[in-house]
Amino acid sequence: MPVRSNNFADLACESLSRRGFLTATAALPALSLMTSEADAAPAGFKAVAENRLDTVVVPEGYAWQPLISWGDPLFEGMAPLDLTKRGAPFAFTRAEQENRFGTHNDMLALFPANWAYPWPEGSVTRAIMCVNHEAVSPFMAAPGNDGQPIDTSVEALEALYACMGVSVFDVAHDPASGAWSVVKGPAVGVGRNRRVTPYSEVVFDGSAANHPWIAKAGAVVNEVEGARSGAPKVKGAIKAGTFQNCAGGFTPWGTYLTAEENFNNQFFTSDKASPALAEAQADAAFAVDQSIYRYDNVWRLGGPAQFDLSRNPHGPSLYGWIVEIDPYDPDWRPHKHTALGRKCNECAATVLSKTNKAVVYTGDDSNNQFVYKFVSRDTFDPTNRIANRALLTHGTLYAARLEADGTGRWIALTAAAANRVPRGPGETAFADDGDVMVRCREAALRLGATKMDRPEDVESPTDGSFRGTGTVFVMCTGNLSDSGRAGNVANPRRKTIAGDGLERNYQGHIVRFEEARQDPAALTFTWDIFAVAGDPSAEVAPVTNLEGQVVNASSWLNGKPTTTGDRFAMPDNITFDHRKFCWITTDGTPETFPCNDGVYVLPMVGKGPRPVKRFLTVPIGAECCGPLLAWDQKTFFCGVQHVGAENVKGQNYRGEATGPYSNFPNGGWPRDSVIFVRRQDGGTVGT
Ligand code: FEO
Ligand code: CA
Ligand code: CA
Repeated sequence: MPVRSNNFADLACESLSRRGFLTATAALPALSLMTSEADAAPAGFKAVAENRLDTVVVPEGYAWQPLISWGDPLFEGMAPLDLTKRGAPFAFTRAEQENRFGTHNDMLALFPANWAYPWPEGSVTRAIMCVNHEAVSPFMAAPGNDGQPIDTSVEALEALYACMGVSVFDVAHDPASGAWSVVKGPAVGVGRNRRVTPYSEVVFDGSAANHPWIAKAGAVVNEVEGARSGAPKVKGAIKAGTFQNCAGGFTPWGTYLTAEENFNNQFFTSDKASPALAEAQADAAFAVDQSIYRYDNVWRLGGPAQFDLSRNPHGPSLYGWIVEIDPYDPDWRPHKHTALGRKCNECAATVLSKTNKAVVYTGDDSNNQFVYKFVSRDTFDPTNRIANRALLTHGTLYAARLEADGTGRWIALTAAAANRVPRGPGETAFADDGDVMVRCREAALRLGATKMDRPEDVESPTDGSFRGTGTVFVMCTGNLSDSGRAGNVANPRRKTIAGDGLERNYQGHIVRFEEARQDPAALTFTWDIFAVAGDPSAEVAPVTNLEGQVVNASSWLNGKPTTTGDRFAMPDNITFDHRKFCWITTDGTPETFPCNDGVYVLPMVGKGPRPVKRFLTVPIGAECCGPLLAWDQKTFFCGVQHVGAENVKGQNYRGEATGPYSNFPNGGWPRDSVIFVRRQDGGTVGT
C-alpha cells in the first residue's frame, strides 16, 4: 500500500546535516539469502591499524603513489604549479581551472584506449580515465589575503564553479614498474583530454527534456552564459554543464555516467523579493520542490548570474540528473537523461539484463530517500557503439519497496500511477511522465517506496560482458535525521547502551538484493541485511563519538555479529574484485571511531559473520571514494577527497591563518588526489 504523507519534510534533502539527534524502533528481519553457503574467508593481506595520520597508509608489502591532484594541468604548455601558494597552486581563474584537474575527486572509471566488446582484460599500457569532481570548498580553494577568509572576487567565484564537473584524460601504464601516469593533451581542444564543468554545453533528452522548468532555466542560462562565452554550438544545447558529481558508472558501450548529487548546494539568492522568484513560487509544485531541496544560499557568496535564484529560479531543475559523457568523442555533448529521474543521485551502475536491456541502479543519498533502477526500452547492440548512446533516453524508472518478509518489488514511477494516489494538502498532480522525472522524490513517496538510510552506492557485480548477476548491494551510509528515528525493517536500529531505546544509525549498513531469476530487469526481488557497519566485539559496543556522545556502535543484528575483524563506519562506495571480494570506501568513520576514512575488504559470498580487513586509510580530513581495480587486478585506485578540510576533532577548516589540517600530498596546501596502490612484488592486490 502506498505510504500516505503530505509532510514534505520527509523528502527534504538532509544530507548536509551529517550529525543530528535521534532514537528509533525496528523489527529486525532474521534473513539470509545464502544460509547454505560456507563460512566467508578473509582477504589475504595484513590489515592496516586504526590511525589518524596525515598520510595514506597501506598494508605491509604494498606501496601507493598519487596519480593526479587538484590543479594538475591536463594539457601541455600550461603554467607549472606554485606549491608555495595558499589555496590554488595556479592562477585561480575560471579559464585556468577549466583546463586543470578539479577539486573533491570522487568517482573513478577506466576505459580501454580503444573500445571493443567485451572489454579487453588483463594488463594495458594505455587507457582513458574519467573522474568526478563532487564539490568545492571555498575556504580551501580560494582563501583570501589580508586576513579575509575567502576571496570573493568575480574571478574566484567563477573559478569555484569550474572546480566541479568531470575530468577526462589519457593515462599510461608501465606494467614492468607498475607505474601509472597522466598523458597530457597536446593542446586545449586537441585529443581526448578535457574538463566538463558547470559551463559546458549539455543536451537534455527523455520525457522531461522539454519540461517548462527546464525550458525556462535553459533560456536564462544561455542568455547569461551566451554573453560570457557565446551561444551553444549545438542546436538545442544548454550551457548548464554539470556539478556536484558524486559517484556514477560506466556503460558496456564505453560511456561514462556521472551522477549529480547535492545540486541544491550551488545556488544563491541575491534578491529575495525578485519578481522572477515570486512568479516561480506562485507555482505550488515549485514551492514544494524548493522546500524539498532547500536550494538557496548555501554559499552566501554570490557568483555567476545563472546560479542566482533571483534571476534563474528554475535553475535547480537543470541538475540532479544522470549525465552521460563519451570519453572517446569530445564532440558529442554530454546528455542529461531525464528518464533516470531527478534526485540527489549518488551513482549509476549499469548492467545488462537477460534480454540485453540496459539496467541502471541509482541511489538518492539523503536521509529517508529511495533506491531506484531504470530499465531501457531498447536493447544493447554490441556491434553499434554509437547507437547505444540513445539507450538511456527511453525506458521505465522504478523505486524499490522492501517488505518485512524479505521480499521486495520495483514500483514503476508514472504519472498515471502517481496521480491515482489520493493527494494530501499541498500536493499537486503530475502533469505527465516528464513531470514525474523532475519531481521524482514526490512520486516515489506517493507510490510507497521504502525510505532508506541515505542510500549511496548501489552496485551489482557482473560477468565479463556486463551481464548482471542479479545481486545488488545498497550502501546505506547512515541516518541521523529526526524523521528517520524509527528506522524500518530494511534499516534496523541498534539498541542504546542502556537498552532502553534505539540509537540513530550513526554507522550505516549494507542491504543486499537478489533479483528474481537473477535478471536485473525483474520486477521483484528478495533482500537481506548483508552487513551492519560498526564494532563486532559485542552486541553492546560503547564508543565515544566525535560529538562526545557515548553510543552503541555494534555490528550485531538479531543477537549475532554480522562482521568480524576491523570496525568501520559510514560505508559509501563499493566495487568487486575477480575473487568475489567487496572493496568498500568510507565517508565518516572518524565520526564514530578514532580512525581516518579508508578502504575495507570483505568477502562477497559465504555466510556471515563477514571478516572485514582494513586495506588502506586516507589522510586527515579526507573521505575515501572511487574504489577501482585495474583489469589485471594488480592496481587499486581510489580518491582522497576534501583532504585537510577537517581536523581530528571534526572541526571544519574555516580559513584560519594557520592553514588547513593536512599538507597532503606535497607538503604544501592540501590537494585532493587520485592515488594508486600496488603490491611491491607486482602481484594481485588483496591477496
Ligand atoms: Fe557524494 Fe553521497 O556522497
Ligand atoms: Ca559518495
Ligand atoms: Ca558520501
